[in-house]
Amino acid sequence: MKNFINISDLSKNELRAIIDGAKKRKSERGKKPNSQPDSDQPIQGKTMIMFFAKPSTRTRISFDLAVKQLGGSSIILNEDEIHYGKGDETIKDTAKVLSQYADILMIRTNSHKDIDEFKKYLEIPIINGLTDLSHPCQIMADILTFEESKGDIEGKTIAWLGDGNNVANSFIEAATKFKFELRIACPKKYQPNKKIMATAKKNNCKLLITEDPYKAAKDADCVMTDKWISMSDKGDKKKKKKILKKYQVNKKIMKVAKSDAIFMHCLPASREEEVTSEVMDGKQSVVWLQAFNRIHAQKSIIEWCIK
Ligand code: CP
Ligand code: NVA
Repeated sequence: MKNFINISDLSKNELRAIIDGAKKRKSERGKKPNSQPDSDQPIQGKTMIMFFAKPSTRTRISFDLAVKQLGGSSIILNEDEIHYGKGDETIKDTAKVLSQYADILMIRTNSHKDIDEFKKYLEIPIINGLTDLSHPCQIMADILTFEESKGDIEGKTIAWLGDGNNVANSFIEAATKFKFELRIACPKKYQPNKKIMATAKKNNCKLLITEDPYKAAKDADCVMTDKWISMSDKGDKKKKKKILKKYQVNKKIMKVAKSDAIFMHCLPASREEEVTSEVMDGKQSVVWLQAFNRIHAQKSIIEWCIK
C-alpha cells in the first residue's frame, strides 16, 4: 500500500517524481477551468473519502478539485458527521468499512497516532491532510511553488521564522530529502519536534536552529512563517504570542534575505502577527500561488498512491 503520511516515508526519487508529475500535469492542462477534468482522467470511477476533524479551507477544496481533475469523485465528511469523529466507533471498524466504499482516504485529524492506527486496518491508501505533528501535502505544494519561482530547490536556503509547529516539522523532513538548507528561528520553548530534528541531523540535513531571526533570514532564498497558534494548540495563547513577537516577518527581516527572495505562508494567516500585510501583499509574496498549487501537488500525490 502506498500511503502518504510522512515526507520521511518516501524516497528522494519518489518525492521528486511527485513534484515533476505535478509540474507536467499542471502545464499540460493549461488554462482549463478548475472543475474540468484532465483529458486522460486517470482515476475515473474511483472515489476519495475525506475526513476533517478540524477546519479547512484550502485542503478541503483543493483536494476536491484535484480528484475532479483526475476524473474521480469525492465525499467530504466533518467530525460531527461520522461515528469515528464523535468517538462512538473504533478506528479499526471505521477503516474496515471505508475500505469497501472508497479507493483512497484523506484525513485531517488531531492526533498523528490516529493516522497510524487507520493505516493498520485500511485496505486502501491513506493521505495525511494535517495532524498535530505534520502537514506533508502542504510541503509538496510549497516545493512546487518554490521551484516555479526560483528553480531547483536543491542547495537553496529557506528561513522559517516563528513557531516550530507541524508545518515546520514536515519542512525539516523535506530539507533532508530535497537537500536544501533550512534555518529555523524560534524560541527554545517552541522548537520543532525533537525526534524529527535528531533524525534530520543524523541524516546530514543542513539544519540550523537559532533564536536569532536575522541570522536565519540572512541571504535566504525564501522566508517562511505560519500562524503562531495552531489548531491543536492548547497552551496560553497570549503568552505564546508575546514570546514569538520578535519572529514576525516584516520589511526589516525581508531586507536581510536575498533581494529576490520570496515570502511563503501556508495560510490561513493572522495578519500583523506572524507577518505584516506589507510583506504578505508585497511583490515578494507567493502565498496565493502556494494555495493554488495545493491542487496540483495533491493530484500527483493521489496518482502516486493509487498507481
Ligand atoms: N494550508 C492549509 O492546510 O489550509 P487549510 O487549513 O485551509 O486547509
Ligand atoms: N500550523 C497550522 C497550519 C494550518 C494549515 C495549524 O496546524 O493550525
